[in-house]
Amino acid sequence: MKNQSPFLRRALLLLVLVVYGTDAKIKIIIAKQDVLVGEEFLLLCKAEEEGDITWQKDGEDFGDIVHIKKATFEDAGKYTCLCDFGSGHNDSVQTQVYVHEGPSFGETKTYHKFLEGKDGVVPCHVTGRPAVEVQWLRNNQKIPTKVGARVSHTSDNTLRIEGVKREDAGTYVCHAQIKGRPVYQSLAISVVVNVPPKVLLTEKVKKVMAGSETNVSLVCLVEGQPKPNITWIMPRTFDPSRHLFNSDRSQLTILSVARADYGEYVCSATNEISEDSATIMLDVFEAPEVFVSAEQQSVLVGERVSVSCNVSGNPQPELHWLNKHNGQTLDSASGHIHVVNGVLVIDEILPSDGGLYSCMAVSTTGNASRDVAIHTQPGPLYLSVSPGLTSVLFSLKTMPISGGTPVTSFILQWRQSATQQWKEVTVPASDSLAITALKPYTLYTVRFAAMNAVGLGWFSETKSVRTLGIRKWYTHTATITHLMDNYTVHLT
Ligand SMILES: *[C@@H]1O[C@H](CO)[C@@H](O)[C@H](O)[C@H]1NC(C)=O
Ligand SMILES: *[C@@H]1O[C@H](CO)[C@@H](O)[C@H](O)[C@H]1NC(C)=O
Ligand SMILES: *[C@@H]1O[C@H](CO)[C@@H](O)[C@H](O)[C@H]1NC(C)=O
Ligand SMILES: *[C@@H]1O[C@H](CO)[C@@H](O)[C@H](O)[C@H]1NC(C)=O
Ligand SMILES: *[C@@H]1O[C@H](CO)[C@@H](O)[C@H](O)[C@H]1NC(C)=O
Ligand SMILES: *[C@@H]1O[C@H](CO)[C@@H](O)[C@H](O)[C@H]1NC(C)=O
Repeated sequence: MKNQSPFLRRALLLLVLVVYGTDAKIKIIIAKQDVLVGEEFLLLCKAEEEGDITWQKDGEDFGDIVHIKKATFEDAGKYTCLCDFGSGHNDSVQTQVYVHEGPSFGETKTYHKFLEGKDGVVPCHVTGRPAVEVQWLRNNQKIPTKVGARVSHTSDNTLRIEGVKREDAGTYVCHAQIKGRPVYQSLAISVVVNVPPKVLLTEKVKKVMAGSETNVSLVCLVEGQPKPNITWIMPRTFDPSRHLFNSDRSQLTILSVARADYGEYVCSATNEISEDSATIMLDVFEAPEVFVSAEQQSVLVGERVSVSCNVSGNPQPELHWLNKHNGQTLDSASGHIHVVNGVLVIDEILPSDGGLYSCMAVSTTGNASRDVAIHTQPGPLYLSVSPGLTSVLFSLKTMPISGGTPVTSFILQWRQSATQQWKEVTVPASDSLAITALKPYTLYTVRFAAMNAVGLGWFSETKSVRTLGIRKWYTHTATITHLMDNYTVHLT
């Protein structure tokens, strides 16, 4: 054993398989029983005692040693080691050598993409000799060859998936084995399932009330494989300070929703297969608001007054004018008070027209209103007078028409003849209406008028009245006054 070849030394070190004879006198040492075509192989026969060793292959004499440089299929067979120990004592031991080619997968594709719902076919192009058996595995589970299974292994070593589902995606293993021998190869094959994008909406119409404190989120649920990219088309230009997206852009949040944000939001999902989109309508409601050109107008009786009003909101509110002191709506009023395009017009104002008016916005989202005070002078006064000794007391038959703002005082006037100037006194509305310090038993003409913040109203008609008392008793008034009624008019 001086000139051992490197191969021989290796074969001795790799004592993989030892075949013992029946009486354990000799044994065959072999590196492996399964030899690849083209490989070198060597069989060694080891005896316990000295003897002559010869080999037979399949019953035919083979020679002294078995050392094949390049194995071919013909080298497969049953090898028998015979040992003659002399004195008629023989022994033999045998082993089988198998020669194979492959298995190999050639050009088998290791990556497949299928569209969801279509049928998927994954071939495994195995070659090998003498014969190859194929198994398909997923997660170490054998895929059945059973006909009719959705995922099956067909007779031509192909994996067939009927109506591919998303969960079919993953790694499959094509396992090829030389029939009956522990010689095999595995190939991992990836299956990817593509799903066209689909956009699902939870709400097609989103309704929201406008407001600086109001945020609204639009949600676009997207399916698809590979994961689709989401893009949005908005009615307003993108403003990063108001339009926020979540990480995959499936949710758009609009801060401080305003009327102008209303409109169609189109969510599109795109992947390499196709595109899908859906539209969310954002309806922005706005609380009604009322604007009037003036909240208070003071005009003189007979003048024209107009107050314009406009209302805003979404939905657009209806505009109504209301006369608050009599509760009438003025929308269809004709005559000297009417409404034209939201403008309240009073052509020639009367004292009775003075008062509160209201412009109202009426909508389904709520109502709003704004009051307008229209003031003019007070109306005419109707009075009766009663004379005192040196005074004239006025009493009102009816309360005066205020003109929309309270009567603050009265002007009382008197004179003795038409040629004289009127003398007058201003009396606060809360005081008694009396002209005092007149001459007794004298004929006077009197009249009066009411005054409010706008001005003086019309004077009453004039009345003639003679003060009581007798001139000659003039110095004795004190004894008479106690007989007189004390006329007092209190205005409230
Ligand atoms: C022993 O082997 C030799 C040579 O192989 C053969 O001639 C002989 O007959 C054998 N003897 C027995 C008892 O088998
Ligand atoms: C609206 O969003 C902003 C910013 O995320 C937040 O600060 C605010 O609290 C939100 N308002 C409401 C009413 O949720
Ligand atoms: C999706 O978006 C990413 C990043 O913006 C881009 O790289 C990719 O090409 C897009 N894919 C498709 C299918 O549009
Ligand atoms: C409504 O009135 C307000 C205030 O008078 C004014 O600023 C606004 O422009 C008006 N709007 C319309 C639509 O007329
Ligand atoms: C708004 O005004 C209309 C008509 O005046 C009335 O019928 C309705 O009840 C009001 N709605 C609210 C919320 O005040
Ligand atoms: C008349 O009435 C006033 C106020 O009530 C009172 O102050 C006055 O004394 C009365 N005069 C007479 C004569 O009764």
